[in-house]
Amino acid sequence: MADQPLVLGIETSCDETGVGIVRGTTLLADAVASSVDEHARFGGVVPEVASRAHLEAMVPTVQRALDQAGVAASDLDGIAVTAGPGLAGALLVGVSAAKAYAYALGKPLYGVNHLASHICVSQLEHGRLPEPTMALLVSGGHSSLLLTEDITSDVRPLGATIDDAAGEAFDKVARVLGLGFPGGPVVDRMAREGDPEAIRFPRGLTGPRDPEYDFSFSGLKTAVARWVEQKRRAGEEVPVADVAASFQEAVTDVLTRKAVKACRSSGVDHLMIGGGVAANSRLRAMAQERCDRAGIRLRVPRPGLCTDNGAMVAALGAEMVWRGRDSSAFDLSADSSLPVTEVSVPDPHGALHAHAHSALGGGA
Ligand code: KG4
Ligand code: ZN
Repeated sequence: MADQPLVLGIETSCDETGVGIVRGTTLLADAVASSVDEHARFGGVVPEVASRAHLEAMVPTVQRALDQAGVAASDLDGIAVTAGPGLAGALLVGVSAAKAYAYALGKPLYGVNHLASHICVSQLEHGRLPEPTMALLVSGGHSSLLLTEDITSDVRPLGATIDDAAGEAFDKVARVLGLGFPGGPVVDRMAREGDPEAIRFPRGLTGPRDPEYDFSFSGLKTAVARWVEQKRRAGEEVPVADVAASFQEAVTDVLTRKAVKACRSSGVDHLMIGGGVAANSRLRAMAQERCDRAGIRLRVPRPGLCTDNGAMVAALGAEMVWRGRDSSAFDLSADSSLPVTEVSVPDPHGALHAHAHSALGGGA
């Protein structure tokens, strides 16, 4: 197969229409159209609004990516697309578009997992993933610790959140503090002015009998809401920056503590952090400190590659082509709850087709 596969990736699992183009591990284009402003007044992503925005943005965003990369669609070695997990209607727009492009251009189609893509994006900045790599994935929909030996075929979950995702906690706390949506970036900014030790908020699931690698953020969120409410009821001013900093400290403390522990007990010396919350400045700094102390090499993509984008899907697609993994069938469907262990959705009849071909004396 192509030495440095040229792959276009499409991502529409939430509110970002992302189209990226990658050659091997080189990023050629990263075009993103976001509908986040359309959701802001609702305080969260409205699935129908997101789907409609994807539909409108798709063709221009693909065109922008091709222009940015300076490649012709006919030169592509494959089209990759997020098949799940995510919002069903939103995913469907991306999957349908990817099928149309792949079919029209006569290129193989790769339906891939959104979470594996968040991990694989690190290849665009730091080269191919060391095997094994521990991944801490923290976004608006997920918080998981995953161990991967081969990002195209082997992703093992060690732990995950049992309630809210880390990004969700940021969004909810931002709402309590009246800071708007999405909450992560603004809490991050406010926290820089505050004292992270001002309030000791609870660290979920860190007791001796708690599951080692699972997370829980709903207790923390409630503790913050209650603390703020008490201040307000007492007629006192809420020290927003201190609350933001102390909340952020609690989240990053738990995330980095568990990630380092997982690396140590599995004997893994590479940690990558991905997903929207990996854009958080305190998380990045604390992870670096703790990894340095533990002799773990840390990879965190630049913030623009941590949040949802098409380049991450293209990165995984290129790795799939590189490793000669099976492509997907044209009846590929979007799966809103695609398990993290399913890195891609291969053609269920692929083996059968290959068999029929060889029986007829044709090439596979
Ligand atoms: O990965 P992502 O773009 O979309 C999902 O797949 O969920 O993550 C979005 C989440 C949101 O909850 C947002 O508040 C959070 O990532 N986020 C941050 C930061 N930037 C984005 N959280 C904390 N600090 C940030 N700087
Ligand atoms: Zn994501």
